[in-house]
Amino acid sequence: MQILVTGGTGYIGSHACVELLRAGYEVVIADNLSNSSAAVLERIERIAGRAPVFYKLDVRDAEGLRLLLKRHPVKAAIHFAGVKAVAESVADPLKYYDNNVNGSLALFTAMRAAGVKHMVFSSSATVYGAQAVSPIGEQAVTAPVNPYGRTKLMIEEILRDLCIADPEFRAVALRYFNPVGAHASGLIGEAPQGTPNNLMPYICQVAAGKLPELQVFGKDYPTPDGTAVRDYIHVMDLAQGHLQALDYLERAPGFSAINLGTGRGTSVLEILQTFERVNQITIPHRMAARRPGDTAVTYADPRLAAELFGWHAALGLADMCRDAWRWQRQNPDAYA
Ligand code: WQD
Repeated sequence: MQILVTGGTGYIGSHACVELLRAGYEVVIADNLSNSSAAVLERIERIAGRAPVFYKLDVRDAEGLRLLLKRHPVKAAIHFAGVKAVAESVADPLKYYDNNVNGSLALFTAMRAAGVKHMVFSSSATVYGAQAVSPIGEQAVTAPVNPYGRTKLMIEEILRDLCIADPEFRAVALRYFNPVGAHASGLIGEAPQGTPNNLMPYICQVAAGKLPELQVFGKDYPTPDGTAVRDYIHVMDLAQGHLQALDYLERAPGFSAINLGTGRGTSVLEILQTFERVNQITIPHRMAARRPGDTAVTYADPRLAAELFGWHAALGLADMCRDAWRWQRQNPDAYA
């Protein structure tokens, strides 16, 4: 069975492609390489033992998508392609509405024209906004507070409307909490361009000596150790969730929004201490001011994914820290 994976050379996408290939799917990647490297394709093949088909293609290229879907009669699409930096989305909202919303509209239009009716969409817990009370369930109010989160929610609503208009069209939006870690081989991993915004890649670059020290954004939150709490989930668990979502679409009509999280909250200091312990390395760090827009506590209620498709996160913090560091150590300059 052929699956189209947009954004398949990216962080989450590449790990999903490995698991799809290992599960026996034929994988067709469409990616514009704007935030990733084609070097990942050879890594995916080394891990999976089979190569994906690759097209350097922007999902906004309607003709390119039409030709791809004509050549590859895929059964379903997994849509990772998009831009995803919260701060950048505030500074440059049109880039986010163009890439994420227009890109999704072009993809869904091309899919409908080609008769492709199953969609797994890469959404985000950012759709819940700052007021949601953890553990956050899928019925929580969605009130995104930045353009990035608003694009994700808009695309979910487009899919919801599409499933109502066309009963044969089926979609699952997977709301990721905080993806971290890397494939255990150390061959693929997170490759942020420039200085990382996210905690784990930042810690890894401090550990590698590429950055001098970690600033802990806020020590005065209403949490056990005063630092902010998040739901960190191993990217391999996340990848597996996409395979279960594909299976779920075979038997469930309509639109579903489903959290992918561990259901456990972990503070910044706990991540730091776990990383230092499992990797036997000291991370220079200092307490700094809170980062604007950060919440104190955000973690998932993961019960629906377990109920609907028997999925739950299997890997823990030690795996996340060990695998993230192996990737960084073995690839000091990522895919360069
Ligand atoms: C985690 C915690 C920081 C860096 C973001 C996006 C979300 C999703 C995941 C796309 C926070 C603290 C961080 C640092 C720190 N991305 N931190 N020092 O903000 O929870 O979520 O990434 O879907 O949409 O919002 O993740 O890794 O940036 O921060 O203290 O140098 O680590 O304050 O408490 P976040 P993060």
